[in-house]
Amino acid sequence: MGTLCRLRQLRTTLGSEFHSWCKLQAPDAARKQLPRIYVTRRIPPEGMKILSQSGLCSIEQWDSDEPVSRTELLKNVAGVGGLYCLLTDKIDAEVLDAAGPSLQVVSTMSVGYDHVSLVELKRRGIRLGYTPDVLTEAVAELTVALLLATSRRLLEAVEEAKSGGWGTWKPLWMCGSGLTDSTVGILGLGRIGAAVTARLKPFGVKRFLYADTDPRPDVASKIPAKFVPLDGLAQHSDFIIVCCALTPETRGICGSRLFSQMKDTAIFINTSRGGVVNQEDLYQALVNGQIAAAGLDVTEPEPLPTDHPLFKLKNCVILPHIASATLATRNAMAALAASNLLAGLQGQAMVKEVPL
Ligand code: DGY
Repeated sequence: MGTLCRLRQLRTTLGSEFHSWCKLQAPDAARKQLPRIYVTRRIPPEGMKILSQSGLCSIEQWDSDEPVSRTELLKNVAGVGGLYCLLTDKIDAEVLDAAGPSLQVVSTMSVGYDHVSLVELKRRGIRLGYTPDVLTEAVAELTVALLLATSRRLLEAVEEAKSGGWGTWKPLWMCGSGLTDSTVGILGLGRIGAAVTARLKPFGVKRFLYADTDPRPDVASKIPAKFVPLDGLAQHSDFIIVCCALTPETRGICGSRLFSQMKDTAIFINTSRGGVVNQEDLYQALVNGQIAAAGLDVTEPEPLPTDHPLFKLKNCVILPHIASATLATRNAMAALAASNLLAGLQGQAMVKEVPL
């Protein structure tokens, strides 16, 4: 019976959300010898293909588009050699204990790994794979789209057009701010930050500034971008774009201090992680006119409850964490995570491994 048929049959038997034991690639006898891996979600086909065609593991999967519950996760990781997870799965001591000593490798289908406890992995000698590079272009593209949607008030304008607010052409109606001759500040000049600057350059940006834990002259000199302290980034930027990873150091780094130093015409964009921003402070800054507008692809929590005050603001554009959401990118992420997992299972070098 084909894989899809088997999955469909199981789903019919067990209901729409089930833990499917998808022994996809090996006959029963051989399978017994293979390390088991657990995949915490239905993943894009390119990733599943690599895993199932490898013949290197026996696959168990939470075959749903919705996240596996904590209870199911703890139950199903017991005794696995590899764990293929997503950014929505918290991988901490409890999960690693539940997996037990067989667990050799965790592979996350994401560039961010703030959901994984590095300390606990290191303590147990478990390796971690992740998926940088393959999503850089998609995320940078969406960041620019969000910036333009926010700065040129696109969602507000569409709403006005649909709801009768479009009276006649008026000189000052729906005016936003443009990128030409602007100063753009990047918080976190990594791969994505640099890719964003490359896309913004043709819009006529006058200068790029960046703040980071340390200067990054190699990347910055090519843009060029000037290293400044966070306060300087706030004071001089017309647009601030957050591209840094969420770490204990960056948690809440965008708060009242930053917003109070920004220009009242400035726009704040975040496509990294919601935890980098103090959302209460952002709300106050938007309501009090300390900054002009914000565009967020990430929030804390996710999803942001629909009654959250930020949703009520016209000058806040909120997207549901879609920066990497192109089909090609998601397939590339899934494939890279699968390759990392298989390499880790075999004790080989991963394509992309987080040094612990
Ligand atoms: C990641 O991979 O960490 C991104 O947030 C997904 O868009």
